[in-house]
Amino acid sequence: MMRAMAKHPASSWSGLPAALALSLGLCAGALATPKFEDTIAQRTLACTACHGEQGRAAPDGYYPRLAGKPAGYLYHQLLNFRDGRRHYGLMTRMVDPLSDAYLLEIARYFSALDVPYPAPQPASVPPAVLQRGQTLARQGDAQRRIPACVQCHGTALTGVAPDIPGLVGLPRDYLNAQLGAWQTRQRQAHAPDCMAQIAQRMDADDVTAVAAWLAAQPVPAPAKPASTLPAPPPATGGERWRCGSAPAVEAAQALTGVKP
Ligand code: HEC
Ligand code: HEC
Repeated sequence: MMRAMAKHPASSWSGLPAALALSLGLCAGALATPKFEDTIAQRTLACTACHGEQGRAAPDGYYPRLAGKPAGYLYHQLLNFRDGRRHYGLMTRMVDPLSDAYLLEIARYFSALDVPYPAPQPASVPPAVLQRGQTLARQGDAQRRIPACVQCHGTALTGVAPDIPGLVGLPRDYLNAQLGAWQTRQRQAHAPDCMAQIAQRMDADDVTAVAAWLAAQPVPAPAKPASTLPAPPPATGGERWRCGSAPAVEAAQALTGVKP
C-alpha cells in the first residue's frame, strides 16, 4: 500500500494530514485511529508514505532511501530542510515544527533500519563514460582539482559514520539531481560546504559519468558505513578539505599530515 502511494504521491494528499498529525504526535486521540500505537514506526508513517516502506526508497528514484544511512547525516538533512539549506516544500512543512531532539530521534530510527538494497541499475552510457566515472570516484582528477569520492565516502563507497553518506545504492537520477543542486546552490550543507566546492569543479560530463558509474555498482555486503575515513590519497592530497557537517574529514587529514 505504501509503495502504491509513493508511486502516485498526488493521490495520497488526502491521507497526508492525518499521517502528518501522527508524525507530530498531535491529535492522536481526536483522530481516533483504531490501531494507533505511539511508536516511532507509527509516527514516521507519514515519512514512509513518500520514502517507501521502512524508508527503503520509492521505486522511481525520486524519493531517497533513508534506511541504514548514517544517523548524523540524516539528522543534518532534517536540519537542512527545516533551516532552509535544502528545499522541498512538503518535507520542510513536516519538519518545521519539530525540535532538534525529535529530529535526532527520527534520524537514529531510520539509520538503524537494515533493509535490502535494490539491484544496481544497468548503465546506459558508453564504456568510456563509465570508465571516467570510476576514475573520478576512485582517483579523482588532480588536474581539475576534483578529489576522489572514496577519500570521504569510504573505500567501499558505503559512507563513513556518523556524518558521511554512502554513494552506492542510490539511483542515477537522484545522484544527478543532488550534484546539480549543489552546483546551483539549491542544496547546501553546513559551512564550509565541501560538497558544493567539489560539485562546482565538476562539469556536466563529470556528473553524468560519476552518477552512471555509482548507480551501476552493486552494494557490497555488509552495506554498513565504515567507522573511520581512509587515509587521504597523495594524488589529490595537498589540498586540505573542511566539511562543516563532517568534522572527521579535517581531523583525518591533520593526522596524516596533509598541509592546509
Ligand atoms: C511528500 C513526500 C515526502 C514526505 C511526506 C517526506 N519526504 Fe523526505 N524527502 C522527499 C523528497 C522528494 C526528498 C529529496 C529532496 C531533494 O531532492 O532534495 C526528501 C529527502 C529527505 C531526506 C534527505 C535524504 C538524503 O539522503 O539526503 C531525509 C533525511 C528525509 N527526506 C526525511 C524525511 C522524514 C523523516 C519525513 C517524515 C517526517 C519525510 N522525509 C517526509 C519527500 C518526502
Ligand atoms: C572532502 C570530503 C568529500 C569528498 C572528497 C566527496 N564528498 Fe560527497 N559528501 C561529503 C559530505 C560531508 C557529504 C554530506 C553533506 C551534507 O551533510 O549534506 C557528502 C554528500 C554527498 C552526496 C549526497 C548523498 C545523498 O544521499 O544525498 C553526494 C551525491 C555526494 N556527496 C557525491 C560525491 C561525489 C560524486 C564525490 C566525488 C567526485 C564526492 N561526493 C566527494 C564529503 C565529500
